[in-house]
Amino acid sequence: MATAIHSAAAPVVFPRDTETGQLFAANFDHRPFEFRHALNTMDLFQMPALLKLAERCMKKRQHKSHYESGEPVVNGYFGSKPADMTLVQALERIGESRNWIILKRIHEEPEYRAALELFISELSELTGADLRRRYCDPILTIFITSPNRITPYHLDGEANFLAQVQGTKSVFLYNAHDPKILTQEEMERYWTGNLLAPRWHDELLEGHWRYELSPGVGVFNPATFPHWVKNNDNVSVSVSINFKRVRNDAIGAYRANYFARKIGLHPTVPGQRPGADRLKNLTFGKLYEGAYAARTALRSRFGI
Ligand SMILES: [Fe+2]
Repeated sequence: MATAIHSAAAPVVFPRDTETGQLFAANFDHRPFEFRHALNTMDLFQMPALLKLAERCMKKRQHKSHYESGEPVVNGYFGSKPADMTLVQALERIGESRNWIILKRIHEEPEYRAALELFISELSELTGADLRRRYCDPILTIFITSPNRITPYHLDGEANFLAQVQGTKSVFLYNAHDPKILTQEEMERYWTGNLLAPRWHDELLEGHWRYELSPGVGVFNPATFPHWVKNNDNVSVSVSINFKRVRNDAIGAYRANYFARKIGLHPTVPGQRPGADRLKNLTFGKLYEGAYAARTALRSRFGI
């Protein structure tokens, strides 16, 4: 039976035993691991609530949610947004179509914000990391996928706890630290805006790790570890809880290295010399962020 989040005694979302604590503390932000959770018992993530949430998203002038239709392959790009279907219709037809729906930044809705706060508290305790201070911009996202649909190979810049709520699916994960999977040049291109930079690897179809997700099971996906997903013959609902490090000098270093390589230099690999990464981030990295923010502001203000 589904549990409301505001019951008299707050539900425990993640197990609190010693073994689980050790698993989270040893691996968070470094290596993938499977975990148990109770998000699948919360009303907020069941289909009736998701339909209401999608309706609320549509009423917002600038909702950030995304939906698309199509049959992408693992090494291709994603589908396209159907012109003849609304977000709510895409959700209503999820069982008999090839749709992929992303309800983005849903923690901007009060009841989902309360859920996210609960997750942050429990995950801080389990990981031993103060997620409210050492990490920033926590994001709650819901993925709803049609039967048998693939999410193509890609990587994300945030650490991700992916919790399965409905249906089953396979997640294939790749080690970002393996130079045969991700080269320095690919990382530099990714962090300077080319989201398609990571190359697909035919020789390693099923990745370094394969996780079978079912309701109550989740996987931790470290930041920048490439992955692809294959849904089984069912509608899948997954909840993603994302975190970014407050201080991440490697990103600024990759951006500086991208331009250094363009003028013929052979820059140091980020992570090898933390002092050099820090300097690159505080100089070129901050310049890059400032220029990017200015460009985004101009685009949204003047449409250029
Ligand atoms: Fe992803």
